[in-house]
Amino acid sequence: SGALLLTALIAYFLGSIPFGLILTRLSGAGDIRQIGSGNIGATNVLRTGRRGIAAATLFLDAFKGLAAVTLARLVWPVAEGPHLLETAMGIAAICVVLGHCFPVWLHFRGGKGVATGIGALWGLCWPVGLACTLIWVLGVKISRISSVGALGAFLAAPLLTVLFCRQPPLSPLALSVDVLALIVLCRHKDNFLRLARGAEPRVGRAPSDPT
Ligand code: G3P
Repeated sequence: SGALLLTALIAYFLGSIPFGLILTRLSGAGDIRQIGSGNIGATNVLRTGRRGIAAATLFLDAFKGLAAVTLARLVWPVAEGPHLLETAMGIAAICVVLGHCFPVWLHFRGGKGVATGIGALWGLCWPVGLACTLIWVLGVKISRISSVGALGAFLAAPLLTVLFCRQPPLSPLALSVDVLALIVLCRHKDNFLRLARGAEPRVGRAPSDPT
């Protein structure tokens, strides 16, 4: 319906705000797309050496994911039925990540959806958001590689949704987490290839082959 389309559009445009690009430029560190991996996310912003800007990017990118899903939760009356509410939240989660990964403002060349996706997971079902945050943090701490934490978190997210949120695997909410995870994993194709070659850089270091 029209309301679902509006939910999708609002989420997409929220997701398309490239905080990493904006903050890096404002801080005078230049165009993040010309630095390190060229990605607009917090991992790459950290390669500028500005920790505060990287932390702000991580926080704001996650926040827009949470905000899009929370907005959908607030505007959809439960009276419409729990399935419709979950569908609206799921669509918001997918669209906010799509907005981050394919922003119209950057000729559809955006980020990888890790922070935004985790923020969206917090909004969809907070135990899953919390668990994925922990997996991500732990994965990065142990491996010192950002993408390893991200891959762990998003590989686990679909199963965690079924377990922690008591969602049947084919429920709208569980399916939307599947799609969200698939988008984030697909966006990590270059990271997969670098990991396979043993060439994925540690946190703070830049890959030798910009992607
Ligand atoms: O999943 C981590 C992702 O943010 C990696 O970014 O810049 O290393 O490709 P980058």
